[in-house]
Amino acid sequence: MIRQETIDGAVKALFDEIEFTNEPSGLYDPLRYMIAIGGKRLRPSLCLTTYSLYKDSFVPEILEPAAGLEVFHSFTLIHDDIMDRSPLRRGVETVWKKWNPDTAILSGDVMCIDSYARVAKAPRECLDEVLSLFSRTAAQVCEGQQYDMEFEGRDNVQMNEYMDMIGLKTGVLIACAAKMGALIGGAPAEDCERLYEYGYNLGLAFQVADDYLDAYGDEKVFGKPIGGDIINSKKSWLTVRAFEKAEGSALQDLKKAMAMPVGTEAEKENKINWVKGLYQELGVGKDAQERILRLNAKALDAASKVCEGDRFEFLRYFAYRLIGRTR
Ligand code: IPE
Ligand code: IPE
Ligand code: MG
Ligand code: MG
Ligand code: MG
Repeated sequence: MIRQETIDGAVKALFDEIEFTNEPSGLYDPLRYMIAIGGKRLRPSLCLTTYSLYKDSFVPEILEPAAGLEVFHSFTLIHDDIMDRSPLRRGVETVWKKWNPDTAILSGDVMCIDSYARVAKAPRECLDEVLSLFSRTAAQVCEGQQYDMEFEGRDNVQMNEYMDMIGLKTGVLIACAAKMGALIGGAPAEDCERLYEYGYNLGLAFQVADDYLDAYGDEKVFGKPIGGDIINSKKSWLTVRAFEKAEGSALQDLKKAMAMPVGTEAEKENKINWVKGLYQELGVGKDAQERILRLNAKALDAASKVCEGDRFEFLRYFAYRLIGRTR
C-alpha cells in the first residue's frame, strides 16, 4: 500500500517539476507565478489519496489529471480575486494587482485550457467518465461563483441557499478530486459515489472554515487579508447565520452594519469592527465551528462505507488536516 509520505512527496514533486509553455511570457508568467507560490494543493492530494485506496504506484495517467485539478483551481482563484477585488493571495500580491485585470483574465483562460489537457491524460478506460465529471464540475463552479456575487446585494439569503452556493463554488471540485482518483484507480461505481459524497461534505466544511478564517484568521498564516468578506458585504456562513439568529434591534444593527461605507481605510476598519462585534454578541463563530465538525462527521460516515482499517485512516487523516486548517 502507498504510504502517506509517498503521497505528500508525489504532490511536491509534481509541482516542482511541472512545465508550461514559455512564450509569450506576459501570458505564461502569471500562470507560473500562481503555481510556484503554492498553496495547500489539497485537490491533487485528495485525488492521489483516493487513487491510493485502489492502486500501489503512481503513473502519469493519475499524476497529470491530479495536476490538472490544481491548475484548474488556481485558474478559478485568479478570476475570483478580480471578482472579489482581493489584493493578497497565498501571502503575495494577486495576479490582477501584480500585473493587471486583462492579464489575469487571459492567463486564467489559458490555465483552464491547460487543466483540461492534463485531465485528458486519464486512462482510456475511464476517460469519458472523467471528462464528463470534470466538465460538469467546471460549469458548477461558475454557477456557484455567480450566486456568490448575486448574494452580495441581498440581505435575505437563507442558510439552505448559502449551503447550495458553497456546494457549487467549492464543494463540487473537492468532490470531483475524490471521485476522479477513485475512477482512475478502477474503483467500483458505488465507492466512487461515496467518495464523491465524502469530498462534497469536506468541501462544505472547508468553505465554512474559510469564511470563519476570513473574519478570525491570522493574515500572515491565512495569506489573505482579514475582513475581506465583510468589506465586500459577502454572504459568508457567519453573515447568514447572524441574520438567522438576530431579532429586533440586533437585526436592525446588523442591517446597518452591513450597509456601512468602505471608501477609506478607516471606514473599512470600522465596518469590520462593527460586524465582528455583532458576530460576537450573536455567538456565530462558535456555531461555525460546530457546523464544521458536523460536516466532517458526515464526510467520514460516507468514507466509512468505502473502506476500513489503514485505508480508512488515509481518509480520516486527510479530513483531519483539512478541518484543522489555519491557512
Ligand atoms: C481557496 O482555496 C478558495 C476556497 C475554496 C475557499 P484553498 O484554500 O484551497 O487555496 P490554496 O490553493 O491553498 O491557496
Ligand atoms: C472561492 O471562494 C471559491 C472559488 C474560487 C471557486 P472565496 O472567494 O471565499 O475564496 P477566497 O477566500 O478568495 O480564497
Ligand atoms: Mg469569491
Ligand atoms: Mg475570494
Ligand atoms: Mg474566502
